[in-house]
Amino acid sequence: MEEKTKFLFEDWRTKLNFRLTSFLEEDDPATLYQPMQYVFEGSGKRIRPILLLLTCKAVGGNIEAAWDAAVAIELLHNFTLVHDDIMDDDDTRRGRETVHKKWTPNIALLAGDGILALSYRALLRTDSEHLKRILEIYTDGIVAVCEGQALDMDFESREHVQPKQYLEMITKKTAYLLNISAKIGAIIGNGSDRQVTALGEFAQNLGVAFQIQDDLLDITVDEDTLGKTFGSDVKQKKRTFLLNYALTHASTQSQQALLNIFQMSEIDNESIYQVRDIFESAGAISAAKESVDNYLSLANKNLESLNGNGENRHLNYLLNYISNRNF
Ligand code: IPE
Ligand code: IPE
Ligand code: MG
Ligand code: MG
Ligand code: MG
Repeated sequence: MEEKTKFLFEDWRTKLNFRLTSFLEEDDPATLYQPMQYVFEGSGKRIRPILLLLTCKAVGGNIEAAWDAAVAIELLHNFTLVHDDIMDDDDTRRGRETVHKKWTPNIALLAGDGILALSYRALLRTDSEHLKRILEIYTDGIVAVCEGQALDMDFESREHVQPKQYLEMITKKTAYLLNISAKIGAIIGNGSDRQVTALGEFAQNLGVAFQIQDDLLDITVDEDTLGKTFGSDVKQKKRTFLLNYALTHASTQSQQALLNIFQMSEIDNESIYQVRDIFESAGAISAAKESVDNYLSLANKNLESLNGNGENRHLNYLLNYISNRNF
């Protein structure tokens, strides 16, 4: 069974990649279209469109009706990444130079804008009687991501961030996109309100786990494997799960060491390793893993509450795929 699901995901990834790279009908002006094409050729995991297709299938829908929305959600995600990399001043994404480093920040801003517009173009092609509802959910999702990204920036310089505030920030910047992917898939598949809600909650818990794990990978996985800059969150003074935990649970001496490092105008590589060691000794790494597991088991419970048509096993596979990822 596992093999079959794996094959299904690979097949869908290939189809998605083809649809993405062939989505652009124009190539002039190259200043706009070249960086957009470059983004589509990057090797993303395609988690959100796969989730959308799976939830459509889980409610017994026809996935042929969901492909445009699947492409749309991946385009939307790519738009957030291009702008996120400018905001986080990152050099590497998906193992390649980020758009603003390869070109310029202005070109990257514009490429992101263009990709967002294309994502609406793709979504509008969806043949569903629920298109207006889908567009509302989609638009609300984008506003939530912007709010989450604003909080993410604000927290860089905030002295105290409560766990609840951290949770709100990651829910908005990351988990909402998974939530709307799942809901839209289920709506296109003509799922009941109960199914749409349960699948949305499943995806949101999965999304929270996904971001805590992303915080963890930032400082525990080497750059070649991750395809992103090692320790970027520390460099950018991001209020990750790990930093928040260590600032309240590390020894007084370690907390002071952390504060000193985070007051540096530029955090060098040596300090990043020092921060990682403090995270480790403060128990932040294991607490993060535990929290990921807690949200994954909440997601599992949401799935069980669905007592679906057997298609849930694919969603379960996606959950395991996410929990085992190292990039
Ligand atoms: C990265 O998302 C952005 C986050 C929300 C952490 P992914 O890890 O899904 O990125 P790709 O699409 O596979 O590159
Ligand atoms: C991702 O947060 C949030 C969005 C892209 C909206 P991160 O900034 O942690 O994502 P990565 O680590 O750069 O992929
Ligand atoms: Mg980032
Ligand atoms: Mg960011
Ligand atoms: Mg990150």
